[in-house]
Amino acid sequence: MAGKGEPSFSISSLGFGFSCSSSPPLPPLPPCIEVLSSEKVASSLSSNLETVSFNSGFSLRKGRISTGDVFPVPNSDLIPGKYEGGLKLWEGAIDLINCLCTEVQAGRLSLAGKRVLELGCGHGLPGIYACLEGAAAVDFQDFNVEVLRCLTIPNVEHNLAESQGSLECKHPQLRFVAGDWSEVDQLLLREPEKPTNDNCSSLPSLSSSMPTPGYDVILTAETVYSLSSLTNLYGVMKKCLCRETGVAYVAGKKHYFGVGGGTRQFLRVVDDDGEMEGSVIAEIADGSSNVREVWKFSFKSLH
Ligand SMILES: C[S@@+](CC[C@H](N)C(=O)[O-])C[C@H]1O[C@@H](n2cnc3c(N)ncnc32)[C@H](O)[C@@H]1O
Repeated sequence: MAGKGEPSFSISSLGFGFSCSSSPPLPPLPPCIEVLSSEKVASSLSSNLETVSFNSGFSLRKGRISTGDVFPVPNSDLIPGKYEGGLKLWEGAIDLINCLCTEVQAGRLSLAGKRVLELGCGHGLPGIYACLEGAAAVDFQDFNVEVLRCLTIPNVEHNLAESQGSLECKHPQLRFVAGDWSEVDQLLLREPEKPTNDNCSSLPSLSSSMPTPGYDVILTAETVYSLSSLTNLYGVMKKCLCRETGVAYVAGKKHYFGVGGGTRQFLRVVDDDGEMEGSVIAEIADGSSNVREVWKFSFKSLH
């Protein structure tokens, strides 16, 4: 966690919505691949670290990278099918962490010993929070391999290194997976390969003997913006969540202007399917964007 006197991240730097460039047919999907922590891009991120503070008084560290430094495209929030917004920190990630803190403090959620997946992680701050709360394994998924290499892995390393002095923080097993929601479940649910050549990394990899029974907790923020990918997002969540006891937390805006998605549209997909149910656990109307929500989903009880 960040110390006092560090440069701090300002919420006002977050955008109000999506300014996506309208484009012709989408490019082919990127391949689903696991990214080793040793594949991180040793960038100038350490000199570009900012502090993000949360309601309950703790803070995390995040790097700052511009889109143009990583992708051969003009700086943009989103380029459908090419770059899906992972280099920017969106308000929903902060809302999600604030909600998780409240859930933990109220005894409604324990992350200790749990298998956690963050879908559409970008900076990965909710997943990092799960690491610091004692999760046994945390998997980070993003559409773009570049986001994992340049931002997510360095962010995880910085925050876990800074927490090393804290006795209660045992580092979890970590995995970084890139790919589209329409197919990434195949990799997420696959038994990990035998030991990798990742020995030089400071981060532990998932052991080959670890079973993959599904995740206890799935976290996702600002991923319900595009109407066309809501079904795939729900699909991967449903396939990957442990049926009996799993919970998924979804943070996002009630409506995204220009792209048609939103938390309520996602709820419609969930309700139409009928196997899961959700309840809203926070509504945030702070004027920095249109109204945001955090939802909690689980499978309907069979009894
Ligand atoms: C707006 S960004 C949000 C990033 C981060 N969760 C946050 O709140 O700061 C959307 C995220 O979802 C991922 N994403 C979007 N569409 C996707 C798709 N079809 N398949 C897989 N990941 C996708 C992107 O890579 C990106 O990380």
